[in-house]
Amino acid sequence: MRLIIFGPPGAGKGTQAKMVAEHFGIIHLSTGKMFREAINQGTELGNLVQSIIDEGQLVPDQTVVDMVEETIASEDYGKGYIIDGFPRTVEQAVAFDNMLERRNESVDAFISLHAPDDVLIQRLLTRGEGRSDDTEEKIKTRLEVYKKETAPVMEYYQQAGMFRSVDGTGTVEEIFQRILSALPKK
Ligand code: AP5
Ligand code: MG
Repeated sequence: MRLIIFGPPGAGKGTQAKMVAEHFGIIHLSTGKMFREAINQGTELGNLVQSIIDEGQLVPDQTVVDMVEETIASEDYGKGYIIDGFPRTVEQAVAFDNMLERRNESVDAFISLHAPDDVLIQRLLTRGEGRSDDTEEKIKTRLEVYKKETAPVMEYYQQAGMFRSVDGTGTVEEIFQRILSALPKK
């Protein structure tokens, strides 16, 4: 099973992707987490993306696409995965489609989590993980970048017919149950 979990900053992508991955025994791939790990380890990639992430802007498409392509080529990903944080631009969505086509694979569902801005902001301000982009100012930038560059990705997947809109408000468990019910039955 290959899934995409999508939504604005604070929508609960990471929280839910972890639960979905455990439930189905598939891998949780978070592009944001991969970048944060690269920054912490001081790798070449980490140095390249640090200031971009600190500012709440997007890493260049090709950098992300190459990283994802390399990652999903690994054997562990054969059983399936849920991607959180990618694709984040229409260009990335097109590149991902091409990548999957070359691999003779397809996505089973695109889960779009939504919640009002005040809920998102409150969650991010109280996350307490010390993320450099969780300040009031950077959260505002991230929401703007989401609306301008990332939200159009929804239309792309609506056309493809695998789109599932899920209410991202309520308790973590309630949202998880909504996601499970929205997934295609095998
Ligand atoms: P990324 O790490 O993807 O960050 P994000 O999209 O801003 O989303 P968050 O991780 O902040 O939120 P989330 O939706 O995962 O919510 P969470 O479950 O944590 O990206 C970071 C940066 O990396 C980007 O800005 C960009 O620079 C770069 N990047 C990454 N991918 C890229 C790409 N494809 N292209 C270009 N650049 C890229 O929940 C948030 C908080 O709320 C948590 O504390 C959680 O415990 C809490 N919470 C969750 N659910 C609930 C609930 N139901 N009720 C109460 N609290 C809840
Ligand atoms: Mg996250």
